[in-house]
Amino acid sequence: MLFMVDSADIQGIKKCNEFFPISGVTTNPTIISSAKSDFKQLLRDIRDIIGDDKMLHVQTTACVADDIVREAELLRDFVGGNFYIKIPITEEGLKAMSMCKARGIKVTATAIFTQQQALMAARAGADFVAPYINRLDNIISDGVHVVEEIVKMFNMQGLKTKVLAASFKTCEQVHKVAMVGAHSVTINPDLFSTLIYHPLTMYAIDAFDSDWSMVYGNKKAGDILSE
Ligand code: E4P
Repeated sequence: MLFMVDSADIQGIKKCNEFFPISGVTTNPTIISSAKSDFKQLLRDIRDIIGDDKMLHVQTTACVADDIVREAELLRDFVGGNFYIKIPITEEGLKAMSMCKARGIKVTATAIFTQQQALMAARAGADFVAPYINRLDNIISDGVHVVEEIVKMFNMQGLKTKVLAASFKTCEQVHKVAMVGAHSVTINPDLFSTLIYHPLTMYAIDAFDSDWSMVYGNKKAGDILSE
């Protein structure tokens, strides 16, 4: 399962890119707006941080297919590198997905809440579908179950479309979508740190440090080896 950063916070993206094995960055208009900065500069900065090979998913702000495609082309040319246009699942959105694919633009279908939305987007050629886990859980639906059935359906029908599970609040949600075969997740920078935190890990590291220093003092293995 691939990990992506769901953020437009430059410091958060920098940290994730430096320390975690990320495959890309995803944004949406809410995330972009929350950065309260120049849109074009923000996109440039994100691309500079992650480089051309990692995926950058940017959402359209248009609603009509022709306008979505125009934005997708402009964004692709501006953002460069490994670019995906995120398109919400609407009738115009589906039309735009096929049009973008015909123009060689990679597509992530977003705002997915049901299995049939995902299937329709896949048939329109979407490379990824992004079901919203926490928002489903919040309405007493079951985000993990929706992902499980999308993965199963895509496998059964031989579809190459991947699931990019989105909208997470907890590590448990991330773990559970991994266990039902999500191909990728996009999570905020804080959740990256929480996913690898465990007090017993910290305890183990402290014990390694104190046992070592009782014999070797302040010198690290590298210091001794380079003497
Ligand atoms: C990503 O594609 C979504 O836009 C995002 O994960 C939504 O997350 P939220 O429900 O936390 O706003």
